[in-house]
Amino acid sequence: MRHRFHTLLLVGSGAREHALAKAIKRSSRPHSLVTFASSANPGIAHLSQSFALGNINDPKAVAAFARAQDVTLAVVGPEAPLETGVADALWERDIPVVGPRRDLAMIETSKGFARHLMTEFGIPGCPDYRHFRTLDGVEAFLQSLSEKFVVKADGLMGGKGVKVAGDHLQSHREALQYCEQLIAKGASFVIEEKCMGEEFSMFSFCDGPTLKHMPPVQDHKRAYVGDEGPNTGGMGSYSDRDHSLPFLKISDIEAARATNELVAEGLRKKFGHGYKGILYGGYMATADGGRVIEFNARFGDPEAMNLLTLLETDIIDIFEAIGNETLHNMEVAFAPKASVCKYAVPAGYPDNPAKGFAVGIEQVEQPENLFLGAVDLRQGKLVATGSRTAAVVGIAEELEEAEAIAETLVSQVEGNLFHRQDVGTRELIDKRVSHMRSLRK
Ligand code: AMP
Ligand code: GLY
Repeated sequence: MRHRFHTLLLVGSGAREHALAKAIKRSSRPHSLVTFASSANPGIAHLSQSFALGNINDPKAVAAFARAQDVTLAVVGPEAPLETGVADALWERDIPVVGPRRDLAMIETSKGFARHLMTEFGIPGCPDYRHFRTLDGVEAFLQSLSEKFVVKADGLMGGKGVKVAGDHLQSHREALQYCEQLIAKGASFVIEEKCMGEEFSMFSFCDGPTLKHMPPVQDHKRAYVGDEGPNTGGMGSYSDRDHSLPFLKISDIEAARATNELVAEGLRKKFGHGYKGILYGGYMATADGGRVIEFNARFGDPEAMNLLTLLETDIIDIFEAIGNETLHNMEVAFAPKASVCKYAVPAGYPDNPAKGFAVGIEQVEQPENLFLGAVDLRQGKLVATGSRTAAVVGIAEELEEAEAIAETLVSQVEGNLFHRQDVGTRELIDKRVSHMRSLRK
């Protein structure tokens, strides 16, 4: 099997998919890479033998492309194609897919489903929650949570469906108004306890029964330095050499891994078939153990840039093992190094982003550690399209060094852009550590 030639299909065209394409390119296995993309990302196109633009959320279109290209193995980067059944359509044509089928992807696409699954299988770390379709009982539940509540629209909302007390909602009255808006749109919603602590992401490769965990990573969701400003897709992320994070205890990591395993098992029991892909647990370390904030059915963006750059195991071996359900036979290794990822994003991002301006990447000293995101090629020129433009990763023995490298590289990306200078800095990490220490006291 080891010598089998693979034609790999990559679905998606952001920085996360650029990181996937680079990891595939590093493989020593004979292969070719074909990409089905929603934008002309030249970074990915350059690494692909064939690169097609189309509707990545149309299962028929993706499957037709896969058949025309004689694809033998596929990986789906973003969540939206998982929700529309792209993985199902590829499996129907006997193409193994890294990325769960539509039913299993509900672990991300329905907040209510994720919470119910946790309850049904007694999975620890679930905040107190209720799932509502009407206003019946909403007020009483809010009162029981007092000022510690979060309202989450059910369904994929591009990160905009979650409103947190104190941040986006200042009173029960505002919460009720938001619930009314959701009901008017026909959406159901979850209200849950607001947890206090530090967030981290735990990713696992999963073939169904077996999970291989990755080092924990911390993302930075807020737009501006000091965790100020609106929520974004993620402005940057870091991981540490010891495959822990400075504010975590070993028990936090063990609990997160165990929870990912219980979720995969619960999904298998519930649907009778296994979760194949990357399972992403979003956790919060709190004073009394870990809480699950959310699950996602894919790699994180930006976390993929940290993890895929550190990945030492051949990614085609991993993907093949996911397809064949043989992950238990292999070791998955990550370099024992620190990593810092920083995103350059358009001025005004996320609320009012500049668009259509030229982006220069010629000055970036380590092009291998540059990942193009929301860009397009127009008349041969690289232009920004408004979402996160380009990410860089610094890798080093120590976090300080990795941060300095990332800062240098991100500053070399030219255009009407900004980035968070504080991601991965000693100062910000110390703040996280002392926050956690004060909560644990
Ligand atoms: P989600 O889309 O579920 O990741 O939510 C977006 C952000 O809202 C998370 O990254 C958290 O910062 C915050 N959040 C979501 N759920 C909770 C919760 N139960 N307690 C505190 N913060 C939360
Ligand atoms: N890191 C945030 C996300 O990928 O959803």
